[in-house]
Amino acid sequence: MRLLQEPAPPRNRMTLPTQTVLGLETSCDETAAAVVRRAPNGAVEVLSSIIASQIAAHAPFGGVVPEIAARAHVESIDAIAAEALRAAGVGFDRVTGIAATAGPGLVGGVMVGLSFGKAIALARGLPLVAVNHLEGHAVSARLATEVAYPFLLLLVSGGHCQLLAVEGVGACRRLGSTIDDAAGEAFDKIAKTLGLPYPGGPALEALAQGGDAQRFPLPRMLLGRKDCDFSFSGLKTAAARIAEGLTGEGKTGDIERADLAAAVQAAIATQLAERSDRAMAAYAVEHAGRDLRFVVAGGVAANRAVRARLQATAEGRGFSFTAPPLAYCTDNAAMIALAGAERLALGMSDLLDAPARPRWPLDAAAANANPTHLAGRKGAKA
Ligand code: KG4
Ligand code: ZN
Repeated sequence: MRLLQEPAPPRNRMTLPTQTVLGLETSCDETAAAVVRRAPNGAVEVLSSIIASQIAAHAPFGGVVPEIAARAHVESIDAIAAEALRAAGVGFDRVTGIAATAGPGLVGGVMVGLSFGKAIALARGLPLVAVNHLEGHAVSARLATEVAYPFLLLLVSGGHCQLLAVEGVGACRRLGSTIDDAAGEAFDKIAKTLGLPYPGGPALEALAQGGDAQRFPLPRMLLGRKDCDFSFSGLKTAAARIAEGLTGEGKTGDIERADLAAAVQAAIATQLAERSDRAMAAYAVEHAGRDLRFVVAGGVAANRAVRARLQATAEGRGFSFTAPPLAYCTDNAAMIALAGAERLALGMSDLLDAPARPRWPLDAAAANANPTHLAGRKGAKA
């Protein structure tokens, strides 16, 4: 394992070449490829970002089926990568590096993108960066806005829910994480109990529009607890119980379901804001006298209610607030390409035997110190 600390930057950054990186993302149910250009001064340009969603293939099963996902990645990765290069107007001769997600994720899919990336790197003599998918989410806001290091990151996706102090490239420290489900997973599972189609998060947000969030009281998990951890399992159980008890039919039933969806969305947003508020307080002490920046990333960052709550919380604590454009919240390859470009700019790359890693915490220090990351649910979701 590598890189707990940011390596010393090259002496004269301005002499570094512009990086033009082909990024590949295959860790879950999107096959994605993108070309991102990063200038020596850090300016970023997304030249293309192609995403082939597998939603239709998984929808009949109500969730991602790993074998179907891996097969779909195999079938489309070369066409998607070719399309990304074509849309960017860039040939392999202009590409300076390959960045492929190497984990965490569904290992069958990760192996497809990583092997494909290695083959290109080998055939073209290009450097390879085996990117941690979470590092991709961590830099995703930088695809559209300049956000300098360090910053406090809330990473909320279908597989992860954690607060991280991001001090630099590859230098993260975890302040809190979920002790059971990830926030996106809670959205998806509760959406299912409301009869909504996969993926549940966006469907639940749409249903919650106009709903009365006050109608159904839901538990406020971990309220007052002094750490920055998350928990959504109690909320999930309470919401499922209420959903089962809904008796209204027709329009009345629709209103009940919308009210429950609004209550669930508000409860998740509240917990994310409360835990982030605690992390901001600790981070502000550690970074006294410096600019305070808060960034939210991952699929759940696409939720408007969540964004609004977090923005208000950040501003109340004197932090700037940045969220990626909606297209870069959910999985994409542009964020993987940028994570690769930032490493290449610092002279960092990986060997062609880089492994596919189904579990790969972003902050290796916490992972090594905390045995829950060797086995058990916290390791995968946190
Ligand atoms: O980052 P992402 O695309 O994949 C992972 O790395 O997990 O996140 C997907 C998750 C899913 O759980 C999805 O339901 C959730 O993000 N999500 C949302 C919204 N859009 C995506 N959750 C709530 N509201 C949304 N608008
Ligand atoms: Zn993701």
